[in-house]
Amino acid sequence: MLIKNTKNHYGIVAIFLHWIMAILIIGLLILGLYMVPLPISREKLNLYRWHKEFGMVVLILVVFRAAWRLSNIIPSLASLPPWEKFAARSVHYAFYVFMFAIPISGWIMSSAAGFSVSFFGLFLLPDLVLPDENLRIILTEIHKWLSYLLIAIIFLHISPL
Ligand code: HEM
Repeated sequence: MLIKNTKNHYGIVAIFLHWIMAILIIGLLILGLYMVPLPISREKLNLYRWHKEFGMVVLILVVFRAAWRLSNIIPSLASLPPWEKFAARSVHYAFYVFMFAIPISGWIMSSAAGFSVSFFGLFLLPDLVLPDENLRIILTEIHKWLSYLLIAIIFLHISPL
């Protein structure tokens, strides 16, 4: 298998990025839905920290993935009827929008809450905005609803239809 994509197949880098990100994102969706209703405890705070740290890993990976996609050819979908080709490409573009928007909304939400995001205890990431309670509430809703939409798109992506 080749490192780069060809006209007919995805290369090893694209396949690796697809699966590592799929595992991380599905894990983050499950973790997010699990951690929010928990009562305040050390466990909840630790889960929030892991959620944010692995969420930032997704943001780093999607920058690399978008750059890789733009600098590679993508396998043609010529064998598909036009509407299926359109649907498949639209779902792919929607994934990119969500893979950027969800972690960035989480990062702004944390900054607005006055909590800087730590990167696995190595360093703190810069705050994107000053603490602001109204903004935190708005971003929490945006982050949540984008995540729900992403779940719907994942089902569309894996649906056999
Ligand atoms: C692809 C990456 C991510 C996904 C799929 C994701 C998904 C989710 C989901 C499903 C929830 C639960 C929403 C709810 O039920 O209210 C959640 C909550 C949360 N996420 Fe993320 N998230 C991601 C990245 C991030 C990042 C990078 C940060 C911060 C740096 C972050 C911060 C938070 C916080 C603080 C909450 C809890 C909000 C609350 O207490 O209501 N997330 N996330």
